[in-house]
Amino acid sequence: MTTRTTDARIPDDIAAAAVLPLSYTDEENITYPAFKWLRENNPFGSAHVEGFDPIWLATTHKDIIEIERKPQIFTSGRDEPFVNDTASSAFFTLMRGDARTLDTLAYMDAPEHTKIKNVTSDWFLPASVRKREDEIRALAKDSVERLLAIDGTVDIVKDFTLKYPLRVIMSLFGVPPEDEPLMLALTQELFGTTDPEVQREEVALEPDVAARMFREAIADFFGYFSRLSADRRLNPRDDLSSLIANAKVDGEYLPESFVNGYYIAIATAGHDTTSSTMSGALSAFARFPDQLDLVRSNMALVPSVVEEAVRYVSPVKHFRRIVSEDTQFHDRDLKEGDSVMLLYPSANRDAEVFENPDAFDITRRPNRHLAFGFGPHMCIGQHVAKLEMRILLEELLPKVKKFELEDHGKYVAANFLSGLKTQQMKITKA
Ligand code: HEM
Repeated sequence: MTTRTTDARIPDDIAAAAVLPLSYTDEENITYPAFKWLRENNPFGSAHVEGFDPIWLATTHKDIIEIERKPQIFTSGRDEPFVNDTASSAFFTLMRGDARTLDTLAYMDAPEHTKIKNVTSDWFLPASVRKREDEIRALAKDSVERLLAIDGTVDIVKDFTLKYPLRVIMSLFGVPPEDEPLMLALTQELFGTTDPEVQREEVALEPDVAARMFREAIADFFGYFSRLSADRRLNPRDDLSSLIANAKVDGEYLPESFVNGYYIAIATAGHDTTSSTMSGALSAFARFPDQLDLVRSNMALVPSVVEEAVRYVSPVKHFRRIVSEDTQFHDRDLKEGDSVMLLYPSANRDAEVFENPDAFDITRRPNRHLAFGFGPHMCIGQHVAKLEMRILLEELLPKVKKFELEDHGKYVAANFLSGLKTQQMKITKA
């Protein structure tokens, strides 16, 4: 790196706050203050955190959009699209050899990425996903009924928000309800491997062991979905599994690893994110009760609640890009192979774009958040996510007068996908 990189160096405590998985267990006191400092003092700086390779941190709304608009320079296909510690990165490199860890969209660049994304892009359009509204509403009604049947304190995550998005995704795939607990456990392991409370082994793990467990979780997913797609080629139905299993690109079925990669991406990206957003939204209603009263008096505001919840929670904490050629950005000299961490929660609290960014304000308009990313990799499932969250809130909010927090809640220790993992609440019915 050049001399200017030294000027770019971020103070150690701020760098650790943005990069370390543990920081994300206390966003209010650790990550958000660090992001604010970065946006104001060093919006595109270089983080040097012990145990991690150096990494550029993109923290403003404007910069993240600019980077996502240049996917040829800021690539997704050269390495893992998430920030891992150095030991885990070395382990991934060793494990995958010349192949990539997963044949799925987040690991691809154009033209391959475009071809594979096109397989399902029509299916995920708003008009298409709306056809599933009745199916999804039945699941929402059932979830709300079960929640409101509980007497006394509830754990809003375990008793409510964790189960519903999984049931939605599994019903879109056509997976039977009895397999949902398995999918839930595997997904939590995949995205929570840095969190000791959701690991396979009840001991503190070395990073390379965490990486091995990630591989094991992927292998378990593969076994399950290979059986599912074999069945859907023989007996196609009107579900997403049949679409993926029977899709042809350049006249050929997708290779097995691509079919499995698709399932894994959707099964995992599709439910933890939505679950975190919903539990975050209900906890925000407890802290900003006027916002609950407002939406209850005007249910037409529900779609704005959904947008604000996604901005406010930003359950995807980052994606990583790898620089494909020596380039300049923000008057910094970037070298081929450098990593860039796109910090979406930081962009979503950028005061240049959002007035009073730390407030949960359901009347915020426009709400140009980047929680679903931007550019060619922008979330393919965003309309499913918005639909299922809107329906859940439409079913729940008329029946609830008040949410009250009964404890501080606990968050997943992960720098990629984090959110509440437990939150005790008292619910006063309407
Ligand atoms: C609140 C819920 C969700 C949030 C906040 C979210 C966020 C994101 C973000 C930030 C990205 C990366 C965008 C980028 O690189 O610019 C992404 C990609 C993706 N998401 Fe979501 N997501 C959500 C729900 C879903 C759902 C419900 C599905 C599937 C049904 C899904 C499937 C995917 C897939 C397959 C990708 C990879 C797209 C690509 O690389 O081209 N997500 N999501």
